[in-house]
Amino acid sequence: MSNSTPNPSPAVQTFGLSRVYGTLTALDNLDLTIHRGDLFGFIGSNGAGKTTTLRILATFLSPSAGRAEVLGHDVVSAADSVRHVIGYMPDFFGVYKDMEVTEYLDFFGACYKIPTAQREKTVNDVLELVGLSEKRGALIGALSRGMQQRIGLARVLIHDPQVLLLDEPASGLDPRARIEMMAILQELQRLGKTIIISSHILSELQTLCNRVAIIERGKLIYSGPVQGVRQQMSSGLIYWIKVNSDAGQALELLKTCPQITAAESVDGRIKVTLVDHDTDPSNVAEILVRGGARLVEFREDEVGLEKVFLHVTRGETQ
Ligand SMILES: Nc1ncnc2c1ncn2[C@@H]1O[C@H](COP(=O)(O)OP(=O)(O)O)[C@@H](O)[C@H]1O
Ligand SMILES: [Mg+2]
Repeated sequence: MSNSTPNPSPAVQTFGLSRVYGTLTALDNLDLTIHRGDLFGFIGSNGAGKTTTLRILATFLSPSAGRAEVLGHDVVSAADSVRHVIGYMPDFFGVYKDMEVTEYLDFFGACYKIPTAQREKTVNDVLELVGLSEKRGALIGALSRGMQQRIGLARVLIHDPQVLLLDEPASGLDPRARIEMMAILQELQRLGKTIIISSHILSELQTLCNRVAIIERGKLIYSGPVQGVRQQMSSGLIYWIKVNSDAGQALELLKTCPQITAAESVDGRIKVTLVDHDTDPSNVAEILVRGGARLVEFREDEVGLEKVFLHVTRGETQ
């Protein structure tokens, strides 16, 4: 049986995307795929190339080499089509502080040529989405930073784009405003939007996003599920063992074990290092149990996400 429906293009795809500024390579041969419906975390320390990538996707900056597509439209040759399907929220954007919330959003609705008759409803809809319906008559300058950031988000939603490119939308927000912003993004994902959100804080995105990419010095280090970051970065070589028999005896047993290169006592547990990735850790457990040790814990070393991030981004550029 043939399936006649072609696979839809990914939400975003880059092919060997590169960007240089003078002699500096800000983006180096980036291959990235973001699927429709993803809430995608784009993570890297300052200067890693996040803003450069998002500006290229938003058609504000041209690539030096390679190319990128948004919903199948090339960001250079079909820039107009791309602009219609994206909502781009830059890292720093001016808000018109002495404008009222609805005036401001109505202005952007007019920019997108939304007919006057529809604009009031559109403005009301986006205000409701960002939870600011009661602030419709307020002066933007009188709103808190978190609310101003949500107005910025409402602004990029006005033409109902399918793909949102949000450059560090939670930076500078207090924890409560951050949580509110994250909840709105989850709601937008539920409504079917594809959302790309950048951050230099991995832990900020680990519960929010279904997939992440980590870049450093313009190069892609990781792309995939959040859980995979830890798996890819942890060596898989270190195991922690706990016995409720004599730990000294267990340590002696382990020293006879050809599958490990080191065993030491650390805080009531034994830390062992396996010979290599092909080593079957169950052999180690078996030697202990056969030798009479009473094994109560045997687990792979779990590297914390933030530690992994520091490890993979230790060449921070700024
Ligand atoms: N307009 C520019 N001219 C020269 N260098 C730039 C320009 N914009 C960014 N850069 C440099 O490119 C690198 C990547 O910057 P950027 O994309 O802003 O990273 P991020 O958003 O991850 O902090 C940095 O080293 C930055 O200094
Ligand atoms: Mg940036």
